[in-house]
Amino acid sequence: MKLFGIDFGKLILAPMAEISDAAFRKISRKFGAGLVFTQMVSADGALKNNFTTLRYLSFARNEKPIGVQVLGNDPKILGPAVKEILKFNPDIIDLNSGCPVSKVTSNNMGSSLMDDPKHLGKLINSMVKSAGSTPISVKFRLGKDLTKINIIESAKAAEDNGAAFITVHVRTSTGKYDERPRYEWLNKVKEAVKIPLVANGSIFSLEDALYVKENFNVDGLMIARGALGNPFIFQRFNTFTEKGFDPGPPDLSLVKETLFEHINLLKLEFGEILALDKAKKHSIWYLREYNGITKLLEKIFAVKDLNSLYELLENHFNKILSGFYPEEDRAIIQEKFFKRVLFWLLEDNYKILSKTA
Ligand SMILES: Cc1cc2nc3c(=O)[nH]c(=O)nc-3n(C[C@H](O)[C@H](O)[C@H](O)COP(=O)(O)O)c2cc1C
Repeated sequence: MKLFGIDFGKLILAPMAEISDAAFRKISRKFGAGLVFTQMVSADGALKNNFTTLRYLSFARNEKPIGVQVLGNDPKILGPAVKEILKFNPDIIDLNSGCPVSKVTSNNMGSSLMDDPKHLGKLINSMVKSAGSTPISVKFRLGKDLTKINIIESAKAAEDNGAAFITVHVRTSTGKYDERPRYEWLNKVKEAVKIPLVANGSIFSLEDALYVKENFNVDGLMIARGALGNPFIFQRFNTFTEKGFDPGPPDLSLVKETLFEHINLLKLEFGEILALDKAKKHSIWYLREYNGITKLLEKIFAVKDLNSLYELLENHFNKILSGFYPEEDRAIIQEKFFKRVLFWLLEDNYKILSKTA
């Protein structure tokens, strides 16, 4: 389905602090993401032309269609901030009403906006008035906790104040990532509002994406953690929906080519030094499904520069190809990955938010 000239029949790359940078967005678009988002940027920072904020929200033409996500809680700031952001010509501007990180919620931003749907409506209204023909969207969780789910009131506030569509991450704010995704709420939201609904939460595979698409009344699917080290999911989904078959996981040579391209883009975007830690993280994500990941984890943190990283990876790919590494217990690796990935990601969130929010 095309909405505002954007193909919502394709998977959407979620905003992710420190992850949804230009490099990852370009890779995701290359593999077929229908829409990508910047990470959240502070409305105040955009208004004041803060250097870091502008850097986070800028993008290249080949990343479009792209949405810029904004964090704020004051209609007098959000409206003018939208005008500043429009200078970059994004396809969508999204209001973050879902971030549960305490640094954000304690400033009454992110998911705490859901505590007061009336105020939320005013924020959306001020953004819509400033945005002209550019659509304003809102990204929600279900509510504060399982006893205070108020996604219906929040979705209605979005619709009544001119939001073009909403995205719902089907967990509560206090549930962070520990709750099971409650997809059943998607149909209730869809019954309550007419604007398009994008589903988000725990879509890690083609099967997960098809399950949500086929069983719930949604207009689009957004994916965050499932795209880490796996931009191939965009292509698999598109091939399945357009041609009716799953091309399967990528072969190792495509994984290598894509990881190296991703690292090169990080280098271009951030320079050698800042790119290094990001490149290490992505390397682990791309390679976590393969034997030898435990060995890679042992070595990768000692790597001091990008050239040594390329060398280590080249060697690692050769060893995987030659069957050098013994079988690893996938269940243990997956469990570690989830714990570690979230640990990293949350650490990153804190770092970034303390710098810019
Ligand atoms: C590292 C990380 C950073 C995130 N940053 C943002 C953000 O800037 N804005 C936002 O709305 N959501 C953010 N999220 C939430 C995701 O967009 C998404 O809603 C959530 O991870 C659930 O989707 P998933 O199960 O596909 O990961 C972040 C999530 C992670 C893991």
